[in-house]
Amino acid sequence: MYDEDTDTLSPAGSCMTAFAPLSPQNGDDRQAALRDRTILVGVCGGIAAYKCAGIVSTLRQSGADVHVIMTEAAQKFVAPLTFAALSNHDVHTDMFAKDTTWDIAHIGLVRKTDAFVILNATANTIAKLAHGIADDLLTTCVLATRKPLLVAPAMNTQMLEADATQANIRCLQERGFEFVQPAAGFLACGETGDGRLAEEEEIIAALCAMLTRSRSLASEHVLITAGPTREFLDPARFLSNPSSGRMGYALAREAAARGAAVTLVSGPTELPAPAGAERVSVTSALDMHAAVLERLRGTTMFIGAAAVADFRPSASSKIKTKKEDADVNLAMTRNPDIIADVARQKPPACLVVGFAAETDDMERNAEDKLLRKGLDCIVVNSIAAHGTDGAFGARDNAVTILWRQAGNGHVERCRLARAPKTAIAAAILDQAAALRAQRR
Ligand code: C5P
Repeated sequence: MYDEDTDTLSPAGSCMTAFAPLSPQNGDDRQAALRDRTILVGVCGGIAAYKCAGIVSTLRQSGADVHVIMTEAAQKFVAPLTFAALSNHDVHTDMFAKDTTWDIAHIGLVRKTDAFVILNATANTIAKLAHGIADDLLTTCVLATRKPLLVAPAMNTQMLEADATQANIRCLQERGFEFVQPAAGFLACGETGDGRLAEEEEIIAALCAMLTRSRSLASEHVLITAGPTREFLDPARFLSNPSSGRMGYALAREAAARGAAVTLVSGPTELPAPAGAERVSVTSALDMHAAVLERLRGTTMFIGAAAVADFRPSASSKIKTKKEDADVNLAMTRNPDIIADVARQKPPACLVVGFAAETDDMERNAEDKLLRKGLDCIVVNSIAAHGTDGAFGARDNAVTILWRQAGNGHVERCRLARAPKTAIAAAILDQAAALRAQRR
């Protein structure tokens, strides 16, 4: 969505390819995205459960193999038989049922699934998902899957706007769950406001976009650097920066979710290895440089999201240097520029995406870096502020993406409003994939 006042797009309507198109699709697009895909649909307990029946029917008619899990509360609103008839499969309601077609219920269910859609998601189910509670078949299956997850909430306006619900939604978005915004209108409780289940068209369009994206990088080998580096002076002291690694890790997870083979060369961070990516842990800029160049062969996309130290102490000691009363002057040596070396040594069709962390003149500095380092694309973010307003260490970020046009080398740009780093990662990969397609 474009905001005229700030000249920014929300990442969901990003630069080249929209990543959750809200416009209705034609039947052919829908069939192409859904045909022969296995979709697991979770239905929660709320009055909009009856609308979920229509969505299941449309998915099946579009060629998808649809399996439905209902929570206990959902069965109070609509009988499982309705969903069984529409999906043409038994409906799953019980953690402990002996299933004849899908072995151990929760593992078997998610194993065959291409995407998981949670419809009519209640505040209760969203809260359970945010906290990793797995006390019924639906929440257990969510916890047991690494497949793309789409959540379409529906609830009373006050419940939706409650701080707890909003915090839970943000938490899930940061973990890569996608949400279809509830619509405004008349609610069953008699109030008018936000909280209606989004329209069927919108939910199915978001699901199709998600499925299409899940294969969009299937032939790519993506090499990503993330996190800070540490430049040790002695065993007790090092020079580093506040990078948390979240941006690079979000990129690695999103690229893997889109089907790419992903290698993540990471400096020291607290983050767990992203699902589906091979992580190579390094400490210093020199280690990172060696690890990247060793793995460059076969790479089709390099993304340098690491905050690499530009200098290291000229001398380091294996023994702790004793404290002295006098001031200390450190002699520093320039570290190699990893991304500049990648741009020089890369395989011919490999796309090189860099980052620029700037405090001032952001876009001019980034454009200069794009051209000077021989990159295809650069993502600039502000480190003028720390904590929640900046880039370093924060869970969300505002960035501008700049790239060189294939034909004329003209520099284009796209500004993205502040959003969770997972959404920013998706927008960056949309852009990178479009640039790769131009260069192939
Ligand atoms: O020149 P500057 O450090 O601002 O450039 C930032 C970009 O260069 C980032 O993509 C970062 O990962 C990369 N970089 C690098 N090796 C360095 C310094 C920065 O790859 N020694």
